[in-house]
Amino acid sequence: MTPSTEPLTGTVALSVGGSVLTTGSDDAEYLGRLADLLKKRGREFPLVVTTGGGRTARDYIRLGRALGLTEVELDEVGIDVTRLHARLLAARIGAPTPATPPTTVAEAVRELRHVSPVILGGTEPGHTTDGVAALLAVRLRAVRVVNATRVDGLFDADPKQHPEAKRIDRLGFEEFRRIVQRGSSGEAGQEFLFDRLAADVLSRAAIPVSILDGRDLDNLDAALLGRRFRGTSVGTPTTDRRG
Ligand code: UTP
Repeated sequence: MTPSTEPLTGTVALSVGGSVLTTGSDDAEYLGRLADLLKKRGREFPLVVTTGGGRTARDYIRLGRALGLTEVELDEVGIDVTRLHARLLAARIGAPTPATPPTTVAEAVRELRHVSPVILGGTEPGHTTDGVAALLAVRLRAVRVVNATRVDGLFDADPKQHPEAKRIDRLGFEEFRRIVQRGSSGEAGQEFLFDRLAADVLSRAAIPVSILDGRDLDNLDAALLGRRFRGTSVGTPTTDRRG
């Protein structure tokens, strides 16, 4: 067993948005192929994966808000949905990946010393699963965080409203933090560009972030391996590329 103070070499933290996991079309096929990919790469290097809640979480949060639940209670509703997605993916991957997702960062770190991949949802109120992936990455001294979302990376304007918006292929941590801060207020279920907490802790620890469309599994695989991918690279010097 690796002593608990030693970093696990080559760890990658992946955050998969809920909007990637369930779209209403070909989800079983996609989740099966994603599970196969995570199982394969998880055997090659320590891999920890967080799963978001997506539309399902937002639907329940809306319902809870209409019932007068507090923001903390709404966050807890969201966390339960993220854990549902983690359980689905973990069950498809199979043993030894824990079928019941770890509920804290510390527990996930402990599990990863024995087993890879480890899949989990949210942990506590106040952030999103991107935040959990970032905290894990810092604890584990990960080589990178991969953020799998439904867009092709970060854009210089909202591509839904501005079709001429251009993808930013590469940017530094300071600019990244500025862009993320502009787009988040901290309410339960809000659709963040990227979690503010995550952007802050990753910038402080100088852990590079790769942002890409998670439905393209070849592209996701390239990013997991540290190879060239289509999307946005945050804080990655050009010399830091493996393939
Ligand atoms: P998500 O991580 O799914 O957030 O958590 P999101 O921004 O909606 O991301 P996508 O759309 O899946 O990519 C859903 C909600 O669950 C609560 C928050 O309210 C969050 O908005 N949550 C999640 C927490 O409070 N703590 C956590 O650790 C995780």
